[in-house]
Amino acid sequence: MQAYMMTRYGDASAMELRDVPEPVAGDGEVLIRVRAAGLNRIDYKVRQGAMRLVHRLTLPQVAGSELSGVVEGVGAGVTRFAVGDRVFARVDKKKLGAYAPYAAVDAALVGRMPKSLNFADAAGLPLAGLTALQALRDEQGVTAGDRVFISGGAGGVGTLAIQLAVWMGAEVATTASPRGEALVRSLGAATVINYQKQKFRDVLSDYDGAFDLTGGQDLSDSFAILKRGAKAVSIGGLPEPANVRADFGAGPLVSTALWVAGAKIRRQARKRGVDYRFLFMHPSGPGLDLLADLVDKGELKTVTDRVFPFEQIPEGFAYLEQGHAKGKVVIQM
Ligand SMILES: NC(=O)c1ccc[n+]([C@@H]2O[C@H](COP(=O)([O-])OP(=O)(O)OC[C@H]3O[C@@H](n4cnc5c(N)ncnc54)[C@H](OP(=O)(O)O)[C@@H]3O)[C@@H](O)[C@H]2O)c1
Repeated sequence: MQAYMMTRYGDASAMELRDVPEPVAGDGEVLIRVRAAGLNRIDYKVRQGAMRLVHRLTLPQVAGSELSGVVEGVGAGVTRFAVGDRVFARVDKKKLGAYAPYAAVDAALVGRMPKSLNFADAAGLPLAGLTALQALRDEQGVTAGDRVFISGGAGGVGTLAIQLAVWMGAEVATTASPRGEALVRSLGAATVINYQKQKFRDVLSDYDGAFDLTGGQDLSDSFAILKRGAKAVSIGGLPEPANVRADFGAGPLVSTALWVAGAKIRRQARKRGVDYRFLFMHPSGPGLDLLADLVDKGELKTVTDRVFPFEQIPEGFAYLEQGHAKGKVVIQM
């Protein structure tokens, strides 16, 4: 089969279409005929080598972090899925493999696709949806009546995070440019700050939680708008030593370097009395089943910005890398 392989760390030319053997479903795995796959910033950050110190891949490797498709076969011990099921997954971080006609995926990471979605829309849901769910539900523990700030609401993660926070009963404030304002309002954001004109820290105060998607100054500023004791969860800042140890088994050298690099942000959080943490999302079949249920009940809408044909993955990444996507960018087989 022809698959998009990451051949080395580097620019867009480091990913190329190559002939590789079709995978087979090993024990506990599901063989999926891929119908669509999502493009994510993490895919190009990994390709560029930005994660190399904590997350070293064995190259060349079939790229791609999330997919939707149809079960083509199941390995020994798999009882939850059968041939013909429509499924979706955020695949294993070390194995990847979504940018190919077939992928063998650990059944524990696979969910049943929402019945109401087509393959393209479903393919953009796993990574961003699980990230938002884990940040808001598991890390932040958002409860009804909370006021939650989400920076960068118009992108892949933000469009889902706004809706999930609203579903949890929160009132949401977010930042977006005028290009994204109507979209984030339609998803339930009560307050929208045009980040190109105004600093959100000048207008918001006493929030119960912050979910930071943009990092940098936005992350420090988010501490200033929170109540003392509130939680701030970032996916846009620097990982903390605990994250890289737990998620990638990083050694003491990398942990120490990150501890030093993150000292300032931790100090700022402490000064404001904010409970700050970084999150690496985790693939999860049960999490996907919950997201699918919310979609089918009409509580969660997917927002797909652009769909490219499989052969145009480089064009898809060129678009995503501009940083202005509204919702998700996906490829379709
Ligand atoms: N740690 C994890 O596990 C994890 C998981 C998923 C994602 N992430 C990270 O989370 C971040 C967001 O991911 P994503 O997929 O949502 O990105 P994305 O879809 O590429 O985000 C693009 C959107 O961000 C908006 N934007 C850009 N700069 C902004 C700013 N300063 N303030 C407010 N909005 C801004 C853009 O709007 P305009 O063009 O209209 O300005 C655009 O709509 C990325 O850094 C990604 O790597 C981490």
